[in-house]
Amino acid sequence: MEVRWIRSCLVLKQKTPEIKEVMSFCPVTSTPNGVQQSEHLKKLWKKHEVLKTEVKLLSLPAKNGCKLITPEKAKSKMSSYVLVTGGAGYIGSHTVVELIQDGFTPIVIDNCVNATRCQSGKMPESLNRVQQITGKAVTYYDFDLLDKDKLDELFKKYKFCAVMHFAGLKSVTESISKPMEYYEVNLGAIINLIECMKEQNLKKLVFSSSATVYGPPEKLPVDEQHIVGKGLTNPYGKTKFFAEEMLRDVAKADEGWNIALLRYFNPVGSHISGLIGEDPQGPPNNLMPYVSQVAIGKLPVLSVFGDDYDTPDGTGVRDFIHIVDLAQGHIAALKKLQEINGCMAFNLGTGKGYSVLEAVKAFEKASGRKVPYKIAPRRPGDLGNVYANTQLAEKFFQWKATKSLEEMCVDMWRWQSMNPNGYRPADA
Ligand SMILES: NC(=O)c1ccc[n+]([C@@H]2O[C@H](COP(=O)([O-])OP(=O)(O)OC[C@H]3O[C@@H](n4cnc5c(N)ncnc54)[C@H](O)[C@@H]3O)[C@@H](O)[C@H]2O)c1
Repeated sequence: MEVRWIRSCLVLKQKTPEIKEVMSFCPVTSTPNGVQQSEHLKKLWKKHEVLKTEVKLLSLPAKNGCKLITPEKAKSKMSSYVLVTGGAGYIGSHTVVELIQDGFTPIVIDNCVNATRCQSGKMPESLNRVQQITGKAVTYYDFDLLDKDKLDELFKKYKFCAVMHFAGLKSVTESISKPMEYYEVNLGAIINLIECMKEQNLKKLVFSSSATVYGPPEKLPVDEQHIVGKGLTNPYGKTKFFAEEMLRDVAKADEGWNIALLRYFNPVGSHISGLIGEDPQGPPNNLMPYVSQVAIGKLPVLSVFGDDYDTPDGTGVRDFIHIVDLAQGHIAALKKLQEINGCMAFNLGTGKGYSVLEAVKAFEKASGRKVPYKIAPRRPGDLGNVYANTQLAEKFFQWKATKSLEEMCVDMWRWQSMNPNGYRPADA
């Protein structure tokens, strides 16, 4: 018996006479005798008066659950190739799902420096799972962005409508011990990309930046006018700041560029299917993956660095954003790129801060597990209170993060408990 996740379409009759079409992800069990309903599907059947259910493999899920995209429309959008660098990674893979579901055709480059290949060794496992979620094949190229010849070749092969650049090295601590690697990869890749894009007269780019470019906040919530590049304490943060500066100069020197610098706050959680999620190689650098590994028993105890910050419970406060909200923010940005004159920065966050201890409690509730923690001294470079002003992205992209901290924790726990070893096989 094979358990697969497929997307199914339920046609539901709601309390109102109006008939709505609602898309839903449903786990179904496919057996030689057909497809069995999942518990989730049964609950939906009970809740609504169901007229019929259909499995629509070609259809795409509607945002807010109501409008179906016709196969014709999906097909006409199929020529919309989007180059996704680092698409096998945490944020990239979730964005690839959203791109496909919106009718785009992502073409992924990833050298798997921070992704796990599947057992056959051909595809990153994350992209394998994306294929399961979406029911669509993902086109993947396995090479390093520093290889300019291969990049040139790819740009000649496809007519991309835009580039989403996620690839890069992202560990703050590693960047302190290997600064030149970080500068080479994080800046060298952008230089190669910009050169290729210019050759093809393609000037649309969505870039993964970070709230780290703000340094210690001078006011809260942090908006896009806040000074950047001041007080940065590690090479990783500096690469993001320098990359932003480079892209701004590119857009100044040559008209016609549309560049969105997306400054992420703290992406957390995973896709609702539990099939893809954050999979740190080695001890996690970020809070929530660490919490999650303590909850599942892979790590013994969480160190909370500092309980004497100027915050309600003394522990650091961060703006956590659900990874699916973040990924959808990229699609919204992509659709509005044309309206960006040159280069513009946007915060992607929720605008609400939660303390480390609040996040730990929320995770304990979601997982039903205890997360033992101990208070440790502050780490140099850590900040007390950081949360975003999100109005610009909300207005410009007509997008808003809607998922709660509870949903982030529930989804993250589903991923963690379904994949205790991440994308690696249990015996790895
Ligand atoms: N995750 C976060 O909390 C966070 C916060 C702010 C900004 N960002 C930025 O967002 C981007 C994506 O982050 P993520 O969490 O998905 O990271 P990730 O490490 O999961 O994904 C990055 C992907 O890029 C690939 N890659 C790295 N160098 C490459 C190269 N030279 N050529 C080809 N592929 C390469 C890696 O194999 C990996 O799959 C990064 O640029 C990161 O700095 C992440």
